[in-house]
Amino acid sequence: MTQKDNNDQDGKGRRNFLYLTAGMFGGVGVASAAWPFISSMTPGADARALATTEVNLAPVEVGQSITVMWRGKPVFVRRRTQKEIQEAEEVDVSSLRDPQSDEDRIQRPEWLILVGICTHLGCVPGGQKPTDQRGDYDGWFCPCHGSHYDTSGRIRKGPAPKNLVVPPYEFVSDTLVKIG
Ligand code: FES
Repeated sequence: MTQKDNNDQDGKGRRNFLYLTAGMFGGVGVASAAWPFISSMTPGADARALATTEVNLAPVEVGQSITVMWRGKPVFVRRRTQKEIQEAEEVDVSSLRDPQSDEDRIQRPEWLILVGICTHLGCVPGGQKPTDQRGDYDGWFCPCHGSHYDTSGRIRKGPAPKNLVVPPYEFVSDTLVKIG
């Protein structure tokens, strides 16, 4: 073995050692950085309470919408009219950008429950107030870049790639829904 080979081998060995050391410290860094998040995710009673939102549906009239907060996000609850339900059901699903039937997005036709965050870049679309623009499909309109959602919260026109998200929820009774 020549002196050069020795140097090369030493060099390689040193490099490997350096990589290894860096890797080890990297690993320690990740582990210690991850710890506060992991410990803060321990599901205490407070966290569980915040994870769900109960909504009293009794005061919501047909054709009205309300917005509630769930995990820091706005959730749209709309009590749909017969016309809105019919419009949502009659759509040819195969023509949709994000094909989903209305049936797959609701539990009870009258109640549509959606996370009110545009799937383009995260604005909150208008359409909750009677004075808001609802877009070309009578649902919600995001004025940030012009996304139109229909009466099932599906994207119909504009840059948003996906339908408005349906959060997990369950009906506790006819007038009480638990989101989350
Ligand atoms: S954020 Fe809604 S259209 Fe861009």
